[in-house]
Amino acid sequence: MKNIRIINAADYVGEKVKIGAWVANKRSSGKIAFLSLRDGSAFFQAVIVKSKVSEELFDLATSLNQETAIWVTGEISEDARSKFGYEIQVEAIEVVGESDDYPITPKDHGTDFLMDHRHLWLRSSKQHAIMLIRNEIIRATHEFYQREGFIQMDSPILVGNAGENTTDLFHTEYFDEDAYLAQTGQLYGEAGAMALGKIYTFGPTFRAEKSKTRRHLIEFWMIEPEMAFVEHDESLDIQERYVAHLVQSVLDNCDYALDVLDRDKEQLKKYTQLPYPRISYDEAIEILQDNDFDVEWGVDFGSPEETFLAEQYETPIFITNYPKAIKAFYMKQHPEREDVVICADMIAPEGYGEIIGGSQREDDYEKLLKGIENFGLGTEEYEWYLDLRRYGSVPHSGFGLGLERTVTWLAGTEHIREAIPFPRLLNRIYP
Ligand code: 4AD
Ligand code: MG
Repeated sequence: MKNIRIINAADYVGEKVKIGAWVANKRSSGKIAFLSLRDGSAFFQAVIVKSKVSEELFDLATSLNQETAIWVTGEISEDARSKFGYEIQVEAIEVVGESDDYPITPKDHGTDFLMDHRHLWLRSSKQHAIMLIRNEIIRATHEFYQREGFIQMDSPILVGNAGENTTDLFHTEYFDEDAYLAQTGQLYGEAGAMALGKIYTFGPTFRAEKSKTRRHLIEFWMIEPEMAFVEHDESLDIQERYVAHLVQSVLDNCDYALDVLDRDKEQLKKYTQLPYPRISYDEAIEILQDNDFDVEWGVDFGSPEETFLAEQYETPIFITNYPKAIKAFYMKQHPEREDVVICADMIAPEGYGEIIGGSQREDDYEKLLKGIENFGLGTEEYEWYLDLRRYGSVPHSGFGLGLERTVTWLAGTEHIREAIPFPRLLNRIYP
């Protein structure tokens, strides 16, 4: 007899197997009992028919508390009534770990309660499905960049200078020096691109964001490719192929999770259609003004503006060439316009907002130096970064995709806090 995982049940129809699982839920009439079992790979149903088993086993099955850990033995059969399609006809149960008064019951709980019990909430079917999608996006990311010849390069988490801005930096001490938690791996990624050509970083990033929205985390993971000898248009081509690859991979490999989450697969399929529309910031302002939004050239877009713009199209869109004043110091100035930079944000459909921020980098030493000064940053800490423009500077571009924003979007969930196992939010660092 084999130990199997629930997700592989289809391969064992008619066979007797053993599964290590937890009791997620149960219900019974006098004659038959059903246990909803989960083992980390999937959820399915165990059936115990009173007339076919010993009284002892039936009593045990009906007395199991929620989240009791068990070894269950029985025969796999088809179950046409469930979405999963298979169940187990129980012949024996062995209790491995008792469970008493499990706090998360099948009834509805408030968000704060669930967040306080995140370490247990992760076991629920919806949270489980979201983690499967997160895992697939991570897997497909490495697949994409490795196939395209990018080298993964890890950037430091403790850094001595601001990577993005000075407003949401996390300050800490580094022996006798000031240090910060990395907001981005990008500047180190640029050094990597000059050494290795095409790289991607994949790591945690930190923003002391005082905003409490359904799109912001304090700690989130970012994938940041950086490419030497690549101009911005080519970077946009790579961005859209990457995102389409993520969507296709989730469709190909997360059927079960998408079903659990009731995610519309036909909708997702549309997002594999390339190219994605590219509209300039100027055009975006016009579209918004024509539709009664109160926006002036120069403002940054909030969530209502992004949502409206994306709704005009069927796929994610790029908004290009934002005003220089609202973007980061390292972005390359437009060759014909002083007031805009060569950059783009990718905006996801369905109200999920910005999932990628990217740009061509300023490769001119003098202009970059001026940019650093204009942003009020101390040039001393950026000496190493300026070196990249002193020694063989080349046109180069890169971008950052927010992992949790992407998970939230593809899973079709409401709030970003569910897209990471243990979210760090404004005023929440427990559990
Ligand atoms: O637009 P951002 O700030 O860009 C950068 O950090 C660049 N250095 C990236 C680069 O060019 N290498 O952030 C990039 C992405 C956003 O589009 C968003 O998806 C995500 O990171 N992001 C957040 N996700 C969750 N919580 C937050 N507080 C986030 N801030 C940014
Ligand atoms: Mg951005």
